[in-house]
Amino acid sequence: MPEVNTISELRINGGRLCRRIEALAATGAIEGDGVCRLALTDEDRKGRDLVCGWMKQLGMRVSVDRIGNVVGVRGGLEDVAPVMTGSHIDSVATGGRYDGALGVLAGLEVIASLNDAGVNTRRPLAVAFFTNEEGVRFAPDMMGSGVHQGALDLEEMLASRSIDGKILGEELKRIGYAGATGVNRFRAHCFIELHVEQGPVLEREAIGVAAVTGVQGISWTEYRIDGTANHAGTTPMHLRQDAGYVAAAIAVEARRIAIEMGGSQVATVGAVELVPNLVNVIAGQALMTVDLRNMEEALLQGAEQRLADFVNQIGAREGVEISQRKLARFEPVAFDDAMVALVEEIATSLGFSCRRMPSGAGHDAQMFAPNCPTAMIFVPSKDGISHNVAEYTAPQELEAGANVLLQVVLNKSDY
Ligand code: GLV
Ligand code: MN
Ligand code: MN
Repeated sequence: MPEVNTISELRINGGRLCRRIEALAATGAIEGDGVCRLALTDEDRKGRDLVCGWMKQLGMRVSVDRIGNVVGVRGGLEDVAPVMTGSHIDSVATGGRYDGALGVLAGLEVIASLNDAGVNTRRPLAVAFFTNEEGVRFAPDMMGSGVHQGALDLEEMLASRSIDGKILGEELKRIGYAGATGVNRFRAHCFIELHVEQGPVLEREAIGVAAVTGVQGISWTEYRIDGTANHAGTTPMHLRQDAGYVAAAIAVEARRIAIEMGGSQVATVGAVELVPNLVNVIAGQALMTVDLRNMEEALLQGAEQRLADFVNQIGAREGVEISQRKLARFEPVAFDDAMVALVEEIATSLGFSCRRMPSGAGHDAQMFAPNCPTAMIFVPSKDGISHNVAEYTAPQELEAGANVLLQVVLNKSDY
């Protein structure tokens, strides 16, 4: 018999975690088991109220900061920097129930399990959910965590305008989450985030857990193309300033660049709006977004430059005006070697197969990485599907991830 170590044998309650995931998914529920909790909407508010209620029930001290991040703290035996975990509860409009929610609710499940077992840690434990991680209603993504850790400017973010024309600071007040706590003050001892992979790697390799090594660089640009709306039947092809055609050409070129570059380079045109968007009118205006990502900063810059050159050329050739706005720009981030190794070691010791992998998606953890040792834990996503109502991770996989989280938190909190 190996020596029994009760702390390393402590486990979370998987059923309770799943029930909380289900209850949160009921706020902003959409057809197909998905959720729509766009940042700072009424649905987001309802989700926030629910999670704050749970934090209080668990005896946590809850604070809301000026960008609306919510941090629940469970005191430690010593008043020192906390071990921090968390993620986000906002979603894309066609979101699944696990993206973000898992990391927050697994954090609460860790606290609940420690409460049940009567375990007091030396360091305080903090569980947070950060405002507007998704970046779809207001750009950029990882906004709350970026402000929290000083990478993004508070006043600039409070002034940002949503895709439905609202000002972020006003929306925060409207939903009752314009808090008073200052930002860029809180430094965690370390940060660890559990998240679903949102891609196909773990499922394809039949691996239970990933120790995430870092996050790729993200570049979001919005292009506005101004041409001339005109008659579709009477305007000869060589006399058009067709904003719709130019938007399509930029989309094709972004994809061509990514495929030609290969490696981790990806390119996505996720939003295109044509004006007036009618069958027999040449589009006079187009608004589109391009999302470019790469694990290497120099390569990402190369992709940005190639697309910028193309945009200049096609604008001149087609006689349209093209203006652009950077929506988000984050360099690739490498997580802390020792934290990554700890995740790997704990996952393996709990009997889960584990591999290291980088993240293709952006995450709140990346905003902590410059300021404290940081890492992430991934669990598989069925069919690699995410940002889609069909997103799914099985209960035993969620439980596995949460148990790894529990043991990482215990290890780092110097129990
Ligand atoms: C955040 O979900 C992202 O776009 O990676
Ligand atoms: Mn997420
Ligand atoms: Mn997401």
